[in-house]
Amino acid sequence: MTQDEQKQLVAREALRYVVDDAWIGVGSGSTANLFIDELAKIRHRIKGAVASSARTAERLKSHGIDVEELNNVSDIPVYIDGADEVTVHGAMIKGGGGALTREKIVAAVARRFVCIADASKLVDVLGTFPLPVEVIPMARSYVARELVKLGGYPAWRMGFTTDNGNVILDVSGLSIVDPSALEDRINGIAGVVTVGVFARRGADVILLGGDDGVRTLVPKR
Ligand code: A5P
Repeated sequence: MTQDEQKQLVAREALRYVVDDAWIGVGSGSTANLFIDELAKIRHRIKGAVASSARTAERLKSHGIDVEELNNVSDIPVYIDGADEVTVHGAMIKGGGGALTREKIVAAVARRFVCIADASKLVDVLGTFPLPVEVIPMARSYVARELVKLGGYPAWRMGFTTDNGNVILDVSGLSIVDPSALEDRINGIAGVVTVGVFARRGADVILLGGDDGVRTLVPKR
């Protein structure tokens, strides 16, 4: 099965987690896009969606799904999103598409995070995928120096501005053995808006596409 077929499989499987008559949080990226296409088929069952990026909002609307501002929604039973890397413990690297800040906010509000991914995203230790860090533009060089002190090699994602008007540093060379500690450490650097480690609020359910179909992992907390 190709990677795209695996993504399609988990996107469809995720429909089982959609809660009727409620708002749903929707992530960003190619797997989330496939989920949006599936969600469109049952749009009459939900109130609407809260989007984690401008591009996701656009795609939801193009399918006739109502998109509501997060400030107007107090309860999101489920958030569905992809990941760049995920461990069996539910810790993730996210932000390959640059939407990490809004993703982290919507995920924080949601009661349940369902991660949908093809099998290639499952790793033992996070860090092979360069860790995205969203940074206030004037702090870029300072934050980069601080990330070097942590053993990373930050690269400025040239020509890219986030939905929040900020820049991204992609940090390679990190072996993230304690994701929660690194999340706290990088969040503590002045000028950092969001780090792409999602460990403090990790996935509650992981749907992994593979040759044999969908594997469902439920990390212990
Ligand atoms: C977007 O900013 C990311 O966090 C995505 O969730 C992540 O990059 C996964 O994307 P794909 O589904 O395209 O692999």
